[in-house]
Amino acid sequence: MRQLLETRHKSELNYTCVPSSLHIFESVPSTNQTLWDLLKDGADKNSIVIATEQTSGRGQWGRTWISPRGGLYLSVGIVPQLAAADSYQLTLASAWGIAALLRQCSISVGIKWPNDLVLQGRKLGGILTETKVHNGQITQAVIGVGINWANPVPDTGMNLQSWQASQPHQAISSLEMLTKTVLLGIQSGIDCLCQEGISVLLSRYLDLLTNIGEQVYINNLVGTVVGVTTQGNLHVCFDINEPNEITTPEIYLEPGTISLGYLDTPTAISAWDY
Ligand code: BTN
Repeated sequence: MRQLLETRHKSELNYTCVPSSLHIFESVPSTNQTLWDLLKDGADKNSIVIATEQTSGRGQWGRTWISPRGGLYLSVGIVPQLAAADSYQLTLASAWGIAALLRQCSISVGIKWPNDLVLQGRKLGGILTETKVHNGQITQAVIGVGINWANPVPDTGMNLQSWQASQPHQAISSLEMLTKTVLLGIQSGIDCLCQEGISVLLSRYLDLLTNIGEQVYINNLVGTVVGVTTQGNLHVCFDINEPNEITTPEIYLEPGTISLGYLDTPTAISAWDY
């Protein structure tokens, strides 16, 4: 794996946000945490950490990311010129970049707001971006990505190797190839954000977002997902034909405040405080 990655690394990853030092482990608690530890010990700010398994993988909102062998677990360090308030843009960029690269391999990946990669309505992977901030600016970011390759998944999950087995053509033939594709996807998403800006990135992200037009139920009112803001908030508009008690025709929901369902399950949100 190292050789494959280093070959690609030298020829194609020549961008300032791009990793310059690769650390491969058999088993770590969390590749994000290992990268933070390495950074503390003076590692290059654009380092990558990859592990065969994680024993305490971290998911969004404090969840655990179950990480047995067979999955892809990696973290990439970057130093973006970004305000802390815009940190979610790194997740949007990475999600779009990875999904776009996999789609180029004829894998019809979509994005489920805010940070999930989905295939046939099931979760293929997720992204966890962590940042260090000083005076309102991000001084270091770690983008962690987990993708189900050959590992077991729950009913709402999808593993790429099994999905490909049902397809006429297998574009991604190994975990190493998936790793390269994901690293290039992150690079491409960050490039888009840094060079073309958030408006362009966001319109590309929205093109791949599976939730657009989806109905969500909030305190028994029906809303429709119409977009995502530059800070990653979900934009929901209420149907104007709903009962009169609606006073707010639209709301913006921060990542982590609601969870959209899988497999066309309607999303119901109650006891909402907004
Ligand atoms: C999610 O909750 O959807 C995000 C999951 C992110 C998991 C990846 S696996 C590699 C990196 N290291 C971690 O501990 N988490 C991320």
